[in-house]
Amino acid sequence: MTSLVALTRCFVDAHKAVTRPAHVVNIASTGAYQAVPNMALYAASKAFVRNFSEGLHDEHRGTPLSVTCICPGGTETAFHAASGGGDYSWIANASTKSAEFVAHAAVRAMLRGKRTVEPGLFNKLSCFFVRFVTRRFASRLATRVLGRPRFALPARGVT
Ligand SMILES: NC(=O)c1ccc[n+]([C@@H]2O[C@H](COP(=O)([O-])OP(=O)(O)OC[C@H]3O[C@@H](n4cnc5c(N)ncnc54)[C@H](OP(=O)(O)O)[C@@H]3O)[C@@H](O)[C@H]2O)c1
Repeated sequence: MTSLVALTRCFVDAHKAVTRPAHVVNIASTGAYQAVPNMALYAASKAFVRNFSEGLHDEHRGTPLSVTCICPGGTETAFHAASGGGDYSWIANASTKSAEFVAHAAVRAMLRGKRTVEPGLFNKLSCFFVRFVTRRFASRLATRVLGRPRFALPARGVT
């Protein structure tokens, strides 16, 4: 979160006086839309990225600078092996997209100056409809969809 804010700030400051289009793209996740048990800090940090990016987008409305927040769902990358995830439900596996698909959607959204984009129909629908259920139910659903971690990551800084 701190790195993303620092980098975004550098970019925004460097483009204050520039008149040609400039684009910030921040990567959040569909995890930004509800709490995700077993990935609690991850989902909380993605909610931060989303709110930060959407706020900045609106601050710069009508200027050459656009800020786009990408909220991918499951994407085929090294992320899952590194994070300990992977025991996902069929619905999570079925809606997983290739990295190329997400990258294309991200660049298209950036060039159009979009505010927030969830690549893929299932992700769009789930991010839209989650607003109609209680936060507790959404959190439980996230546990069902994402399953339990395959292994516990080692604790850091705990004595
Ligand atoms: N994959 C998914 O299902 C998924 C879903 C939603 C959102 N996302 C988001 O998409 C973004 C990209 O993730 P990914 O799926 O592409 O994961 P990935 O394949 O594991 O790639 C992560 C990238 O981040 C770099 N990185 C990690 N720690 C770093 C550090 N401290 N300093 C600089 N670079 C660092 C890695 O560099 P090295 O290769 O040099 O280690 C790697 O290039 C993340 O923000 C993730 O939260 C992913």
